[in-house]
Amino acid sequence: MNAVTATAPTDAPVEASGNTSPAPAPFTTPVAPGLQWSDALNLAMPFMDQTHIEFVDLLAAVQTAENTELVSRWQALVDHTDAHFGQEDRWMADTGFAPGSCHMTQHAVVLKVLREGLALGQQGQWAPIRQMAHELTVWFPHHAQTMDAGLALHLKSVGYDPATGHISEPEALPALAISGCGGSSCSTSDSSDATATAPETA
Ligand SMILES: [Fe+2]
Ligand SMILES: [Fe+2]
Repeated sequence: MNAVTATAPTDAPVEASGNTSPAPAPFTTPVAPGLQWSDALNLAMPFMDQTHIEFVDLLAAVQTAENTELVSRWQALVDHTDAHFGQEDRWMADTGFAPGSCHMTQHAVVLKVLREGLALGQQGQWAPIRQMAHELTVWFPHHAQTMDAGLALHLKSVGYDPATGHISEPEALPALAISGCGGSSCSTSDSSDATATAPETA
């Protein structure tokens, strides 16, 4: 899957050639939140869902930020995402996923891109952050409904308690380390695809 190509948030100029297709325009001003929490994102795993609710809220705060607050709000989102992904990576490591499984790889790629956006923002370049924020509104539902949903099912199947790390059904742990995503929508072949859905640096 290719990275999301953003469309203009407002009316885009029409090309002089007569082509009426709106040209992509950079995101340069605050926009309405592009993603809101809904039942479609609920994975019935409170620890995971609470983190995802916070992610959606922080992303909305970025999208609605004026330039003066954009970098600090992006910093808050990056810090939260670092903890969010790290938490899920620990859960995977605790329950039989191989290091570098596709879900972990996607986390690493996305976090790297978000940090690149932060570095650009700290240099006064705000458009990349606004572009990435838009792309996250598309990327996150897909990630939650595939990789995170698969992880939630896996954690439930082994009786994993995220608060304590206790596994109540160790007999359900995989005999071989999982290199795919652990969900019905993912397979080991997804690892080569794991970077494809990550937001891109504008
Ligand atoms: Fe997640
Ligand atoms: Fe995840």
